[in-house]
Amino acid sequence: MALMHPEGGWHIGVLGGSGLYDPGALDDVQEIAVRSAFGEPSGPVVTGTLEGVRFTFMARHGAGHRMAPSHVNYRANVDVMKRCGVTDLVAMSAVGSLDEALAPGRFAVVDQFIDRTTGRERSFFGPGITAHVAFADPVCPRLSGLLAGAASDAGAGVHEGATYVAIEGPQFSTRAESRLYRQWGAHVIGMTAMPEARLAREAELPYALVGMVTDYDAWRDGEAAVDTAQVLETMRGNADLARNALRAFAAALPKRREASPIDRALDGAIVTPRDAWD
Ligand code: ADE
Repeated sequence: MALMHPEGGWHIGVLGGSGLYDPGALDDVQEIAVRSAFGEPSGPVVTGTLEGVRFTFMARHGAGHRMAPSHVNYRANVDVMKRCGVTDLVAMSAVGSLDEALAPGRFAVVDQFIDRTTGRERSFFGPGITAHVAFADPVCPRLSGLLAGAASDAGAGVHEGATYVAIEGPQFSTRAESRLYRQWGAHVIGMTAMPEARLAREAELPYALVGMVTDYDAWRDGEAAVDTAQVLETMRGNADLARNALRAFAAALPKRREASPIDRALDGAIVTPRDAWD
């Protein structure tokens, strides 16, 4: 089977939970173990077509949710998506809310990040090749807009333009941290978008993130803070909505994929001259 996308066509990679696709709803489904030059990915990909568009899914935390956010090999996962011929990468993740209006059950389409992760491999480059890709606008506005519209058509309450603070975890935040992140202007909090979004940019893959709000984190005075049971319960309740949003997104994609500037994010970004690459 040819995994590469046809010229001008979309091939959407989806990184998220295993509940994001219903294999029965995909045509032409195959599970494929793809090797990466960057170590072990979280697992095999499942590829198939939805509304006639090729989608390739990977469960970010692996089978049985065995990998904590700090242990996910983000480089291998993004590399595998690239090798599969994915043109655009959609991340779907549970997030906590730092904003009263973003109630559990709502969807936040992210457009900025604050990275508080530590010690994760955050680049495909170096030592040997130095590259500095532009990252001021870390998501693809076209992809984000299409996802926001589709999620809304599927019946979700959608907030666009959310700022996401990425924490290392695996523990949730203290109340003081949660209040601090609100002061910084963050709207949602999670543990997985970084370095995924950075790596997608280096891989020249337009990236968009839909956060499914599961809780109010720990900033609300006098209220119980987030716990895992609450996150899992809200995610289960939202699984159908997330799948329906992806189907609506597939149906809404323009027939032809026009090139994105992010497809060429590395142009001019590599400082090391070609003849000096290791
Ligand atoms: N994922 C879902 N809810 C979260 C929270 N409150 N903090 C970090 N990651 C989360």
